[in-house]
Amino acid sequence: MLSNGMIVEAKGLVKTFAGREVIRNCSIHLPQGKIYGFLGPNGAGKTTVMKMLTGLLKPTAGTAKVLGMDILTQRDQVLSRIGSLIEVPVFFEHLSAQKNLDLHLAYMNMEERDASQVLEMVGLSHTGQQPVSTFSLGMRQRLAIARAIVHKPQLLILDEPINGLDPLAIREMRVLFKSLVNDHGMSILISSHIISELEYIADIIGIILNGTVVCEETMTDIQAQFENGLEEYFFKVTNGGTESA
Ligand SMILES: Nc1ncnc2c1ncn2[C@@H]1O[C@H](COP(=O)(O)OP(=O)(O)OP(=O)(O)O)[C@@H](O)[C@H]1O
Ligand SMILES: [Mg+2]
Repeated sequence: MLSNGMIVEAKGLVKTFAGREVIRNCSIHLPQGKIYGFLGPNGAGKTTVMKMLTGLLKPTAGTAKVLGMDILTQRDQVLSRIGSLIEVPVFFEHLSAQKNLDLHLAYMNMEERDASQVLEMVGLSHTGQQPVSTFSLGMRQRLAIARAIVHKPQLLILDEPINGLDPLAIREMRVLFKSLVNDHGMSILISSHIISELEYIADIIGIILNGTVVCEETMTDIQAQFENGLEEYFFKVTNGGTESA
């Protein structure tokens, strides 16, 4: 299905808001079965790019192929095969976690799937009939991750998914993301502000500065070239660390 093994291939993306170009000549390459860590300072354009890849925003120019399909002309086919978590998730607040996932599956025409297993995977199986309105920030984030994976997508697009999670939960999610790739054949595009977090899980790092991905490098190459790993690489690329991740 994929002509060149790329699960995401964006070329020359541009996004202009009210005449201001915030994404320019931006290209991304995510090979199948890999975790792509998307790193960049505040306002660099991570969320905007992820929104274009999930059909939430239309690029001003450029092309984006997701799972070998054009996100503009084959949007619905793409959307049924990807899972995403971008910005603050919205839930049916008066309903339980299980019911929220069941409704999502119904919406995706996949009622036969069992959501309870996924609740277990994200550590929410104890919540029973508890309405989402009573969930803590971390519980909501776990539920958002559950919703992104419950329909067994081929690609996950996660915009800062570990926001609000405690250290134990971060470690649990890291193990979960790895297992989604290794045991379930998914590919993942994940953004984070936490350099060490991406260093633990990413196979490839893409750094975005001022709306352009300025480099894509494998973690193996980064670790081979930089004694202090990803942080050293990031600060070199961003010119001495005047900008923060
Ligand atoms: N709807 C919008 N209208 C106008 N400008 C926007 C809009 N959405 C994003 N921008 C601008 O586009 C630029 C990129 O924003 P974006 O949210 O993609 O950055 P980011 O890398 O996700 O940042 P952060 O790390 O803070 O989440 C910013 O300058 C932002 O102000
Ligand atoms: Mg963002």
